[in-house]
Amino acid sequence: MSKITAAITGVGGYVPDFVLTNKILETMVDTNDEWITTRTGIKERRILKEEGKGTSFLAIKAAEDLLRKKNLNPKDIDLVIVATATPDMKAASTAAYTATQIGATNAFSYDLEAACSSFLFGMSTASAYIESGRYKKVLLIGADKNSSFINYKDRATCIIFGDGAGAVLFEPNEEGLGLQDEILRSNGEGREFLQATYGGSSYPIKADTFDEGKHYVFQDGKTVFKNAVFNMADVAERILKKNDLTNDDISWLVAHQANKRIIDATANRINLDDSKVMMNIQKYGNTTSATLPLLLNDYESQLKKGDKIIFAAFGGGFTWGSIYLKWAYN
Ligand code: UT7
Repeated sequence: MSKITAAITGVGGYVPDFVLTNKILETMVDTNDEWITTRTGIKERRILKEEGKGTSFLAIKAAEDLLRKKNLNPKDIDLVIVATATPDMKAASTAAYTATQIGATNAFSYDLEAACSSFLFGMSTASAYIESGRYKKVLLIGADKNSSFINYKDRATCIIFGDGAGAVLFEPNEEGLGLQDEILRSNGEGREFLQATYGGSSYPIKADTFDEGKHYVFQDGKTVFKNAVFNMADVAERILKKNDLTNDDISWLVAHQANKRIIDATANRINLDDSKVMMNIQKYGNTTSATLPLLLNDYESQLKKGDKIIFAAFGGGFTWGSIYLKWAYN
């Protein structure tokens, strides 16, 4: 019997309607379109404005898009993983709510958090369940409502992040397609450079600390940038070497959309032409866990069976890694 690999067999995506442009940001903080565009590549991002709607709203929409496109009965799904850094609330699982709302009533579900690497690490988790033969249909959703913890008075962060969600279905494959290899890493010494300090178990929000705004995301952009460039490019290069691949073999780079300059640096390190680099940061900004599946969703019509794809991500923690995957359908 041939070895079972874990292939992506469907994708879906969702971004909210409200478009926060660089022009609008110019009216909110001391910034300008030219600075944001040249330093990050971002022109606009989407924001979920409606009161009471959290990350699950985005996740449900992306999952429903996938179900519709694949004509999949949600009752056939075994497991729903929601990769997110912005769960709906403490204690109650965002994935459990999402799975029930989409009708995946025979599935179990849980959240997976590794900041901007959540979806990449989730690909490893979802694939392992499939490869082991334990489950047949694993729905992995990357979703984040970043606007829920961004300070729109802080120009260092509010220009970068946006809201969105993407979903992929992993199923067994006997043609050797799907996830081939991975290099995943973390280093907790980096956590001081990118975090929302208050609101977790170390520092619960209190009335007297609320005004300090430490429940918002803080980022030492320069340090994160340097580490992201070095580590994302490093793992991408290493996964190519490990699998005897050259730039000619690679059809696509699917890289976390945090800053166009970081993506370009990764592509340059593996000598990949711009035409092979998926890019949508200009439209959505950094959607954290949703960047990779939203790229797949936007580029789905250009993907061909057998395409060799390199995924790469870097995020808070620090967390980072690269995955090599063969695309499974036209
Ligand atoms: O997804 C998780 C991982 N996150 C990332 O990978 C993000 C990594 N970091 C970055 O993308 C970049 O560091 C930023 C986009 C956040 C910042 O870009 P930078 O080129 O590192 O700028 P900087 O922080 O070094 O600031 C350069 C200058 C400073 O002015 P002075 O000191 O040179 O006079 C800043 O005060 O730009 C100023 N500046 C701004 N100016 C206009 C900082 N933010 C802004 C702004 N608009 N929004």
